Amino acid sequence: MTVTSELEETAGKTSSGLEPIKARIERILENMPPSAAPSPPTPEQEEQALQRILLDKGVYPIHLKARLSDFHNPPETPPVFIYGSAGVGKTHLAAAYLAREIQTRGEASKFFIRCVDLMNRLRDSFRNSYNLAASEIISAFSRYRFLVIDDLGAERDTPLVQEALYDVLDFRVGHRLPTIITSNFSLDRVAGHYGDFGERIASRIAGMGETMTLLGKDRRWQK
Ligand SMILES: Nc1ncnc2c1ncn2[C@@H]1O[C@H](COP(=O)(O)OP(=O)(O)O)[C@@H](O)[C@H]1O
Ligand SMILES: [Mg+2]
Repeated sequence: MTVTSELEETAGKTSSGLEPIKARIERILENMPPSAAPSPPTPEQEEQALQRILLDKGVYPIHLKARLSDFHNPPETPPVFIYGSAGVGKTHLAAAYLAREIQTRGEASKFFIRCVDLMNRLRDSFRNSYNLAASEIISAFSRYRFLVIDDLGAERDTPLVQEALYDVLDFRVGHRLPTIITSNFSLDRVAGHYGDFGERIASRIAGMGETMTLLGKDRRWQK
């Protein structure tokens, strides 16, 4: 009995002794500057951050706001080849898929490039006989985990460059790396466009996945 009452007494003293400390902690917390407790980003801040990433990934400024919700029933799995006449929204759709990919899986190892720019980079590296650089470019574009090649067929280029483009596609098909290629050309025309490599390039693209034909009016003229 004595022991119990002693414990009760001690407990009472201890808790009353803690009171001021608790009050002090609460006072300190109240006086902390708001920056100490970071608030989650607003939807506007998230949108701006995504647009900065997309710009950094090579998406053109006019397509930074491209989202899948801009389209009626876009397929869940991105098409590999988006074909259609000028201004129907091929690049916009490819950029929208890239945006979704970055939102859901992060920004690492994803890229967007115009086919002409890719071929120019390859051609320059061959021309300057920096063959190592060319192989590095081929290797980098072969390995991106998600790649958009915009506007295939805009340029023919040399057989060396055509072969390099084929190498990139061949590696990506072999490793099942998601790729979106947009073009004003049908695959038939692509096959006839790139000399000895045309058929092989078209065949690699066809073997990668779905082809989509985007129909509609030229949105640039509608505006
Ligand atoms: N679904 C869409 N909703 C809103 N704007 C769009 C849509 N599709 C395309 N656009 C806009 O229309 C213009 C032409 O589209 P773009 O993708 O560049 O055409 P393409 O690549 O087929 O030539 C661009 O300014 C683009 O942002
Ligand atoms: Mg385009």
